[in-house]
Order: sequence, then structure tokens, then C-alpha cells
Amino acid sequence: MLREVTATRYVEPLRSGGSVPGVVEADDLGTYVVKFTGSAQGRKALVAEVIVGELARTLGLRFPELVLVHFDPAIAEQEPHQEVRDLHAASAGVNLGMDHLPGARDFTPEIARVFTVDPLEAGRIVWLDALTVNVDRTVHSSNLMVWPTLGVARPRLWLIDHGAALVFHHRWDVTDPRRAYDFRHHALGHYGPDVRAADAELAPRVTEELLRRILAEVPDAWLADEPGFATAEEVREAYVTYLQARVEASGDWLPTGFPTREELAAEEALRAAKNQQGRPAWLKQVPDLHGKPAVRQDGTVHLG
Ligand SMILES: Nc1ncnc2c1ncn2[C@@H]1O[C@H](COP(=O)(O)OP(=O)(O)OP(=O)(O)O)[C@@H](O)[C@H]1O
Ligand SMILES: [Mg+2]
Repeated sequence: MLREVTATRYVEPLRSGGSVPGVVEADDLGTYVVKFTGSAQGRKALVAEVIVGELARTLGLRFPELVLVHFDPAIAEQEPHQEVRDLHAASAGVNLGMDHLPGARDFTPEIARVFTVDPLEAGRIVWLDALTVNVDRTVHSSNLMVWPTLGVARPRLWLIDHGAALVFHHRWDVTDPRRAYDFRHHALGHYGPDVRAADAELAPRVTEELLRRILAEVPDAWLADEPGFATAEEVREAYVTYLQARVEASGDWLPTGFPTREELAAEEALRAAKNQQGRPAWLKQVPDLHGKPAVRQDGTVHLG
């Protein structure tokens, strides 16, 4: 089960996150990124965080520890912004915390340009995202961080933020577990992810027993009141059934056909060129000649 801690000090809001998570210190002397139950993303985002995060960890991917955080809005009284204060007020009680990785950096396109990822590791991450329908790990919103690990010469990739995964839980009645989604713009697509090898390695490990164990970690309160279900246990069962059917149908949804780095750069440049059309000349950007794709005056694309 997830450990429980109590937040003792509110450090700061993470404004780069759409749900405005908060960094807190807790009574176990740990520091956590708290995802609040009262956020606009709702409790389902927290359910997705637990299920996908725990799956990731069990399958050997790097993912920070999750804990349940008891949060009293009184500890954040110094927060000046009313919308953040409202979020805290709506989140008194148990929230989700993720171990804070001090000094970690977001895996941005700039970092991706100089960072190598093994095709098998990329394949495992893409495979997990395709299994859990996590469409929020793209080039521009990678939800990956690079973080130095003690004793390891170079920073390693860490997964964060699975709140947008499991899109099927918004429409239980119409979703087909065999459905393939578009992962062409996955943050790791240009590393040549070996999803077939990942499938052969990981699919047999996602057993019904594992899924049940993970679903048992989701607090009842986050599963209650789901329309069409009588109890939290019934909702757990629906997740297990769906994910089990999906893992068995991996042949139907394995993502393939990732664009190369060059193709992505060309697409990006075309998009930029389209955005430029119709603007007055003085608003048009000066071409960037430092290795990035550049659009010439006549609209043609130059790959640097
Ligand atoms: N465990 C962590 N350690 C260090 N920094 C983190 C951690 N989790 C999140 N962050 C930082 O906070 C930012 C926002 O976090 P996250 O993406 O989880 O929030 P979110 O509200 O779900 O965001 P969005 O939905 O906008 O992507 C991350 O991009 C990262 O910079
Ligand atoms: Mg995010």
C-alpha cells in the first residue's frame, strides 16, 4: 500500500503544471510534489497517476515514490494567489504526493538534442504509454525529467505525470481495449523505440494479479461516485478487466511508424511557416541558423 505522510510545510506552487501542484515538506522529512484532489483535472487524474505510476515502477522504469499526503490548507496560509488558495481549500484531507527529485530538469526538445536514449528503454516507455493510453508524453510536453543518480556518470530519464492517461475512464461505455492511438509525436519517438521487444518483455508481466494489487492501492474515496458503478470495488474491476483485455490485444495497438528526427524537424518548420503566413513582414521571424530548421524568405525549409 502507499505510505501515508502529513504535510508540515508548504514550500511553493509549481506553476508550470496545469493543475498547480504544490511542493511540501512532510513529517517523514521527505519533500513531495502534491497533486490536489480539488484540482480541475479531478480525482480521475489521481487514479491514473497511481495506476500508471505503479505499473511503471513494477515494470522497472524509473518513477518517483508515490505517497498519500494528509494536507491541511492552514499550512499554506502564506500563499498569496486566491486561485491557489481556493485549490488548497478544496483539497483538505488526503491527496497524492510524488517524491520530489531535487535538481531534476524537464526533458525538453533542447535536452533531447544532446541526450541519448537506448531504443529498448524508449520502447518500454512508449509501450507503457500505449498500454495505458497516455497521450501526454509528447515532444513539447514530455512529462519526463532527467536527474542525476548517485554513482551513475550521466543523468537518467525519470517518468512523471500520468494524470492524463487512461482516457478510457472518461467514457467506459464506448471504449474498445484494442483501439490504437496516434503516438507519432511521442517524446521518445525519434530514438527508434523498439516496442516489439518491449512488448515481448513486458506484456507477460502485466498479469491480472499485478493489476489487482495496483488497483488496491487506489483509495476508495477516489473511486466512489462513479456513474454506472455501485461500489469502488466494481470500478477497480472495470480497470482490471479493461487493462487485461488491452494487454492481451497488444498486437492491435503497438505503435509503429515513428518519424525520424529530420522528419519531425521538417514538420515543425512547416508548421512554423504556416503560422507566419499572412503576418506582416516586420512580424516574421528571422531564420535561426544555429542547427535548427529554418524557413527561408520564399517559404522553403532549410534543415540546419
Ligand atoms: N517529482 C518531481 N520532482 C521534481 N520536479 C517535478 C516533479 N514532478 C513535477 N515536477 C515539475 O513540475 C512540473 C509540473 O508537474 P506535472 O507535469 O506533474 O504537473 P501537472 O499539473 O500534471 O502538469 P500538466 O498537466 O500541465 O502537464 C514538471 O514539468 C516538473 O518541472
Ligand atoms: Mg505535466
